[in-house]
Amino acid sequence: MKKVLLICISCWSMFLFASEEPLIELSSSEEKVLSDIGHKAAGMVSKRLMNTMLGDIKSVGLAEAARGWSKSVALINDTADSFNLGMKIKRPTYQYRNPINKPDHLDQVALDFFLSSESDDASSFSRKVKGEDGYRYLYYQPMYVTKKCLLCHSVNMADDVKAVLEEKYPNDLSRDLKLAELRALIRVELPESAIK
Ligand code: HEC
Repeated sequence: MKKVLLICISCWSMFLFASEEPLIELSSSEEKVLSDIGHKAAGMVSKRLMNTMLGDIKSVGLAEAARGWSKSVALINDTADSFNLGMKIKRPTYQYRNPINKPDHLDQVALDFFLSSESDDASSFSRKVKGEDGYRYLYYQPMYVTKKCLLCHSVNMADDVKAVLEEKYPNDLSRDLKLAELRALIRVELPESAIK
C-alpha cells in the first residue's frame, strides 16, 4: 500500500514538473545576444512610457492621465513590434492593476529571484523555455517605485485620482506601493530565430 502511494506521489510530481515548462540557463553567447536586445528594448519602453506619462500629466492633469493610461499597453506593443523580431513585451508583477500583467509561472520565478537576496542587485534575469516551435527566450529587467509613481500607486493618492482608479480597476493590487520597492519586471520575450 505504502509502495503504491509512493509511486502515485512520484508520478504526480513528474506530471506537475512536465506541465510547468522548466526554465533553462543560457550559454554565454545566447546570454549576450538576448541581453543586448532585451536591455535596449526595456530602456526604450521605460523612456517612452515616462515621456508620455509626463506629457499627459502636464496636458490633462493627473486624474485624466490615470484614466487614459490603458494606452500604455499599446505603446509597449508598438515598441516591441518596432524591432521586427517577433518580440513580445509585458510588465508582470504580483501587485497588478491590469490583469494582463498577472505573472505566469515563469514570471513568478523571475519575480521571486528579484525579491530574494539571491539577486544581490542583479540587473537582469535571462532564461529560455522549450516551446512548440523551438525555444522562447526571456529577458527580465526590474523596475522600482520612485516618488512620481506614488501619485497613482499609493495610499496617499489625491481623491480625484483615487476615484478614477477605483472605478476603472476595482481589483487593483497596486494602490499601496512603497518607495524603492520592486514595482514590476519588464519581460522581453524573443523567438529562437531572433537569437541564433
Ligand atoms: C497618472 C497615474 C500614474 C502614474 C503617475 C504612474 N502609474 Fe503606473 N499605472 C497607472 C495605471 C492607470 C495603470 C494601469 C494601466 C493599464 O490599464 O494597463 C498602471 C500600470 C502600471 C504598470 C503595469 C502593471 C500593472 O499593475 O498592471 C506598471 C509596471 C506601472 N504602472 C509602473 C509605474 C511606475 C514605475 C510609475 C512611476 C515611474 C508609475 N507606474 C506611475 C497609473 C499611473
